[in-house]
Amino acid sequence: MTLPESLPTTGVDAVDVGALPRDFLWGTATSAYQIEGAVAEDGRSPSIWDTFSRVPGAVDGGHTGDTACDHYHRWPEDIALMRELGTNAYRLSVAWPRVVPGGDGPANARGLDFYDRLVDGLLAAGIQPSVTLYHWDLPQVLQDRGGWPVRDTAEHFAAYAGLVAARLGDRVTQWATLNEPLCSAWIGHLEGRMAPGLTDLTAAVRASYHLLLGHGLASGAVRAAAPGARIGIVNNLSTVEPATPRDADLDAARRMDGHVNRWWLDPVHGRGFPADMREVYRVGLPERTGDLGVIAAPLDWIGLNYYFPQVVTADPDGPAPYARQVARPGVRRTAMDWEVDAGGLETLIMRLHLEYGAGPVHITENGSAYPDTVAPDGTVHDPERAAYLTAHLAACARAARRGAPVAGYYAWSLLDNFEWAYGYDKRFGLVHVDYATQRRTVKSSGRRYAGIIAAHRDR
Ligand code: IFM
Repeated sequence: MTLPESLPTTGVDAVDVGALPRDFLWGTATSAYQIEGAVAEDGRSPSIWDTFSRVPGAVDGGHTGDTACDHYHRWPEDIALMRELGTNAYRLSVAWPRVVPGGDGPANARGLDFYDRLVDGLLAAGIQPSVTLYHWDLPQVLQDRGGWPVRDTAEHFAAYAGLVAARLGDRVTQWATLNEPLCSAWIGHLEGRMAPGLTDLTAAVRASYHLLLGHGLASGAVRAAAPGARIGIVNNLSTVEPATPRDADLDAARRMDGHVNRWWLDPVHGRGFPADMREVYRVGLPERTGDLGVIAAPLDWIGLNYYFPQVVTADPDGPAPYARQVARPGVRRTAMDWEVDAGGLETLIMRLHLEYGAGPVHITENGSAYPDTVAPDGTVHDPERAAYLTAHLAACARAARRGAPVAGYYAWSLLDNFEWAYGYDKRFGLVHVDYATQRRTVKSSGRRYAGIIAAHRDR
């Protein structure tokens, strides 16, 4: 087993910017519940995360998204920060419970108005919006009616997606249906570490199916409402290697690859659900004739979120897929305890390109948490994040040199924000947020990003 490459600590020059296309999208990414706050304003209803974050012990520190980064009110300042970084794209998510507080039924005009203002503000600043329709904040009313394990949720999702596209589709072209359905299904319904907090394999497999069905149905609804839309799906993928060459670990690696990668990629590329994983889960899929065709709706682009590699060993007593990650000594880790391996990003981009024949690949998220502190002079110096960013951008450029259609990169995240079950203590931002004052400070990693973007522009 080879250890991941060490991070280059040199500066901007470490990225072969000449390999990236001239119209490359340089972005940052966020999601609604993690930054907006204003959870009870303008008609928004509670989401499953409002509920889950109030379950004792579910979120570190008992934190919630009630205020978050107060982006709902401070978005003009946040757009100014994007400009300061020199970005030309921004990935945001729309909160379903703001737009359709009843889960299904009519739109809430005040909810849509917020995204309308935000999109106009971005365009006025020369920043292209990329809109994700579902980043985990299911309206609680739909959870009460069964949530993703029931088919109706997929249909309601499509109706909601159509409403958003009808309102924003004259200005937004780049759309993603789902963010990381793996987390919604596996972490939310099987591991119980995310909303809705279930530990039920049958519910998890059914949720995974209806999420992908929802993706396909929503693609159709967005295309119908906004004919110029370019639609993708965002998956978080990992490279997977066996911890040893033993058969049990080789098989564990196959199962983990099926669980985190193939289960999500094969159906949307028209290959159906992997047969070997159906055997692993042994849960009947709620299939109806025609569904697989809906799930395989044409993709105009694909989103890749990449954070860490996985080295796994067999774990027959654990939950599906009966494999677990092992920690490798001597490998750098972030504050999330995630291993750092920039080469994994290049590998995954090439896999999408060569194995799946994917069209434009957007790195829709990539980033690192470190325990930042504000220096007495008010600056935030985060060399490890700057190195992580640089190394991963260098990996994108290498993939581009090898012929992969790498079209954009969105750093996770613009701002420090609500990191789900970890609350506010894990900071991923290129911009530091002092939650007591809501003061924003661009970190040195943000300056590094600005430098790389400028080098690409001026090449
Ligand atoms: O904060 C999350 C984001 O919401 C989804 N992708 C991973 C990020 C870091 O954990």
